[in-house]
Amino acid sequence: MRKKNASAMKKHKIIVAPTSLAMAEYLSGMITGGLNELPAKTCFNIAVSGGTTPEAIFRNLPCLKDGTIKWNSIRLFWVDERCVPPDDPESNYRMVKKSLIENINIPGANIFRIRGEAEPAVESDRYGALLADELPLMNNIPRFDLVILGLGTDGHTASIFPHNIFLFSSAVNCAVSAHPASGQKRITITGRVINNAANVVFLIKGQEKADIVRALISGDNYSEYPASLVNPVNGDLTWLTDIHAAQLIKGST
Ligand code: 6PG
Repeated sequence: MRKKNASAMKKHKIIVAPTSLAMAEYLSGMITGGLNELPAKTCFNIAVSGGTTPEAIFRNLPCLKDGTIKWNSIRLFWVDERCVPPDDPESNYRMVKKSLIENINIPGANIFRIRGEAEPAVESDRYGALLADELPLMNNIPRFDLVILGLGTDGHTASIFPHNIFLFSSAVNCAVSAHPASGQKRITITGRVINNAANVVFLIKGQEKADIVRALISGDNYSEYPASLVNPVNGDLTWLTDIHAAQLIKGST
């Protein structure tokens, strides 16, 4: 895998993986590395996103087969959730349950799902308060050890879309969003939480993402894309892509 520091991105790195499995290996390394560095009696707090890319990577994490992983030291939170019941095919919780949780020995008490079945504004407030209660704070803002993001072809990430990019700079930890095409209500963490994380990683694969990756990395008038606002001020950002999504980045061939 090649590491590149793109000009438009400060202290961020781009990892171009030859295959999805190599992407999963890299993410697995981020998780096991984080677990190994944990101070005693603490937990590794991860926020996971929905989407087909995260699902494919979660399914193939080599650390799933590593019997030495202290999964009880991991606590799972969600970056966002569709406002549907937890057993709905659209549910991000259901996707993570099937692709990750059912394959690891993690205590139920370590799983903090967003309740998609609840009234959105009430749940958004509840989850925002839960993050403040459950996570360490930095600058009085909840701080994740690792935030795993997907990227839409329109430059959305989490459930913050170009039409409601203002949510990224919300003063609250969680907000109610809506999908631009379907209108489906979503609950999402906001930029203040994303950019307060110790590590943020975008999982991006597929040729259809090549244009948006080029726009974001090369800095071509990308300000209308919510993903361009991801910039962890006291943390690291990794763009973890496959060769297809990275094919338009200069020098990535
Ligand atoms: C969601 C995600 C969303 C997703 C991207 C990428 O709830 O759908 O949080 O941000 O990660 O849309 O999805 P794909 O990997 O399926 O392209």
